[in-house]
Amino acid sequence: MRRDLEKKVRRIDKATDDLRVREKDSDSLKLEENVFDVPTLKNLYNLSRKGIIEAMGGSISTGKEANVFHADGSERELAIKIYRINTSTFKAMEAYITKDPRFVNIRPKKRDIVFAWTRKEFQNLKRARSAGIRAPEPIITEKNILIMEFMGENEVPFPLLKNVALDKEEGQRIYHIIVEYMRLLNTEAKLVHADLSEYNILIDPKDLSPVFIDMGQSVTLEHPNAREFLHRDVLNILRYFSRFGIKESPEELLSKIKAK
Ligand SMILES: Nc1ncnc2c1ncn2[C@@H]1O[C@H](COP(=O)(O)OP(=O)(O)OP(=O)(O)O)[C@@H](O)[C@H]1O
Ligand SMILES: [Mg+2]
Repeated sequence: MRRDLEKKVRRIDKATDDLRVREKDSDSLKLEENVFDVPTLKNLYNLSRKGIIEAMGGSISTGKEANVFHADGSERELAIKIYRINTSTFKAMEAYITKDPRFVNIRPKKRDIVFAWTRKEFQNLKRARSAGIRAPEPIITEKNILIMEFMGENEVPFPLLKNVALDKEEGQRIYHIIVEYMRLLNTEAKLVHADLSEYNILIDPKDLSPVFIDMGQSVTLEHPNAREFLHRDVLNILRYFSRFGIKESPEELLSKIKAK
């Protein structure tokens, strides 16, 4: 037993070392202690052995369901989203997954639901991009880890829409692109984002172009709650953009973005 334990500890030490986890400040260290449980650490280590991750960077975000980290890849910067197995919103996740026709055969065990959720976000991002929407390119998933293109530069992520100061003209320009993305998501990708708001849209400061993120909860049009989710997305977007003089009604916006 003791030998086993020693071996295990050595393996973890080595994995940590190989990942060259940068110890930026005590806060991110504490966070990493929480997120990097042994299986996650092992999976990160496997991803580094495959050459996908070259070095783990600092924490970008600590959310309700997942933590997002910066990392260096072999050619470009990466964002690493690690879903927590013991997420507080697990019950909601389960309802989303079990009603999604693409995931009917998933065994309803907690970790399996979280792994399916991770794969679902990968697929949703891919479908959104194929439809012409700007979203991070998903690269690979491994259990509860999603690796994707880092939307930002030099370890600095693009700001959230809610944190960008815009004048009326800029706000309206961004609104029209978002409407076009919502239309493409519906008519081409046949998806509803289901958590679309100023919190899940990044803005590229170079050209003020919007980037959709956070698509774990996105559902196909067949999902029983798809209409309700779409309606909620529409209300969120109209609420936010009313400050830039957008006065469309929910029905007007819906008619622009819905599949005929
Ligand atoms: N590909 C990416 N590139 C750069 N930053 C990213 C990327 N993906 C996510 N982020 C950053 O991490 C944050 C959290 O990501 P995301 O919204 O996908 O996770 P979340 O679990 O929904 O978080 P929350 O529970 O807070 O909503 C984003 O607000 C964004 O700042
Ligand atoms: Mg989010």
